[in-house]
Amino acid sequence: MQTITVNASRSYCVQIGPGLLDRVGELSAPLVQGRKAAVVSDSNVWLLYGTQVERSLTQAGFQVSVFQFPAGESSKNTATLLELLTFLAREGLSREDPVFALGGGVTGDMGGLAAALYLRGVPCIQLPTTLLAMVDSSVGGKTAVDLPEGKNLVGTFTQPHLVLCDTLTLQTLPAPVMAEGWAEVIKYGMIRSPELLQRLAGEDPAGDLEWVIAHCVTIKRDVVGIDERDTGERQLLNFGHTIGHAIERCGGYSIYHGEGVAMGMAIMTRACVREGLCPKECWTVLESLLNRFHLPQTCSMDKKGLLEAARADKKRRGDSITLIQPQKIGTCVLNKTDYGELSRILERGMGA
Ligand code: NAD
Ligand code: GLY
Repeated sequence: MQTITVNASRSYCVQIGPGLLDRVGELSAPLVQGRKAAVVSDSNVWLLYGTQVERSLTQAGFQVSVFQFPAGESSKNTATLLELLTFLAREGLSREDPVFALGGGVTGDMGGLAAALYLRGVPCIQLPTTLLAMVDSSVGGKTAVDLPEGKNLVGTFTQPHLVLCDTLTLQTLPAPVMAEGWAEVIKYGMIRSPELLQRLAGEDPAGDLEWVIAHCVTIKRDVVGIDERDTGERQLLNFGHTIGHAIERCGGYSIYHGEGVAMGMAIMTRACVREGLCPKECWTVLESLLNRFHLPQTCSMDKKGLLEAARADKKRRGDSITLIQPQKIGTCVLNKTDYGELSRILERGMGA
């Protein structure tokens, strides 16, 4: 079991290890005053883990109510958010009563946003059940839902009270969902950690998942500790995301987030190598890891459509955009530039 403390506008622990869902009640009860607990979960995850979590919360003295929504990114919208907020009000949750987000990044983002908005903020406890959510979305306080105009356009920065990553839940993850989590893990290696890249290239990268998750969370803890509101250093965590989000949007959100990120990292890295901005090794290392984890590296979508979708991305600042570009193995840098540059990157990086 590993515990990592995040020091941001709120300090909280991220615990990583097997069997934590059985201890949700016991571990969260001392952190909150209220005893009404709302569990938010999607239709798949609730079936798998709902009873276990409900039992643990009930044993710790919580009165539990459950909000379920259809699994998938297409539920991460303002309509479901409004249903969830209405549910919290009808259940009579007070400001002290916690919301538990049990599921992947979709559940965490939407449950976290509802907790941030309802009564101007109630405690949120993140119970991530995908690799992606454990290494990335449950930590750092970004909450959001999508608009038809783009991803994550409505959201807040609101830190959770606790994050419990039960590694046993990863055993039921479908292979493509596990793979997209590996895309975010590779991202951490590319931006900050040659050590992680080496480990991923080694004999059994999935052999010590607890180490991998803790390593990524530690990187995220360090970055969020310096730049909680994404005005500088934190933007490094968006490596692959500007293009990735555009790909997701142009694909009507039928492409997993991690797959979009994988293609985004590949396009950016190929372009940077071709422009002489980083050594070729950056691409060969990334390429072999994307292959290893069965992640896509090419995208045949229309470049103009992608550019338009990227313009709607919330990461733009006026007419400028910050691109995250590899500089050497395990290091990326921020490049504040314009859309002409992004168009060039797409031109140079999209071909295999
Ligand atoms: P997801 O929540 O949709 O989960 C993917 C699929 O896996 C779903 O069908 C879900 O029901 C299923 N699932 C989840 N846990 C399972 C388990 N243990 N066993 C079996 N099935 C399980 O998607 P995701 O990939 O976890 O997250 C993607 C979302 O995260 C995107 O919306 C993205 O924008 C967001 N995100 C947010 C941040 C942030 O900082 N807030 C960071 C990265 C990604
Ligand atoms: N996933 C990007 C961030 O948390 O900033």
